[in-house]
Amino acid sequence: MHNSSQNGLHVAIIMDGNGRWATRRGLPRVAGHRAGVATVRDVIEHAPELGIRRLTLYAFSSDNWNRPAPEVQSIFWLMRAYLRLETDRLRQRGARLQAIGRRDRIPAALLREIEKAEFATADCKLLDVRVAVDYSSRDSITRTVSALKETVSGSVAESPDFFRGVLTKVLTAESGNVDLLIRTGGEKRLSDFLLWESAYAELYFTERMWPDFGAIDLEAAVSEFSERQRRFGGLPNPASQPTASTTEGAR
Ligand code: IPE
Ligand code: IPE
Ligand code: MG
Repeated sequence: MHNSSQNGLHVAIIMDGNGRWATRRGLPRVAGHRAGVATVRDVIEHAPELGIRRLTLYAFSSDNWNRPAPEVQSIFWLMRAYLRLETDRLRQRGARLQAIGRRDRIPAALLREIEKAEFATADCKLLDVRVAVDYSSRDSITRTVSALKETVSGSVAESPDFFRGVLTKVLTAESGNVDLLIRTGGEKRLSDFLLWESAYAELYFTERMWPDFGAIDLEAAVSEFSERQRRFGGLPNPASQPTASTTEGAR
């Protein structure tokens, strides 16, 4: 076992490098996105046996709207096709799918497919798969704060502890504290992904482009994670093994 928590690990992945993978092969960028879908399948299939209980995959950032429209449309089309083809398989594997991010700007046909998959897999318990689509962490924090502002007044609104408590509850309810954050494609940045939730995440960067990433690489990342010593600002415990963060542990 790679972790000692009953809850299992929350692994978040920035699936980067599709475009470069394709360009290096003289292919259009969309071929890289298509090849990347196979990696998604592979990773979801092998996650449970590595002790992963929750997987959050960055599929399309809100800043990705800045790309040329045909690329954006192809990405949405591929997501829709993936969901149509894979929902039954997700269900059979006990994977519950949920989307995080904005739902008001993506194509209606994709939204319908997402909702169908969420409904069909709602009672699956082996693995939570959260797909971040039109996702921005800053945006998600900003919206949470502005929704809060409407509902609180008086002295409680002056208390930073109150806000911290509510923000933790709301933001981690959406995707939970991240134990291990993986980014493929060689860049070493977060690109507005799970900023709050990754406060104590272990970071793992690999040069491997997303279409070339696979179960073996995931296992290598989890294995490196299991060697890391997590302290959460405290002092090292000589007997400690890395554990999945609990709701409060990694604030
Ligand atoms: C990640 O791959 C997938 C999305 C952002 C949708 P990229 O498309 O960013 O690939 P590179 O970084 O250009 O190689
Ligand atoms: C981050 O990758 C978003 C996804 C992987 C979905 P980008 O390729 O968009 O990030 P930057 O532009 O290199 O920071
Ligand atoms: Mg990229």
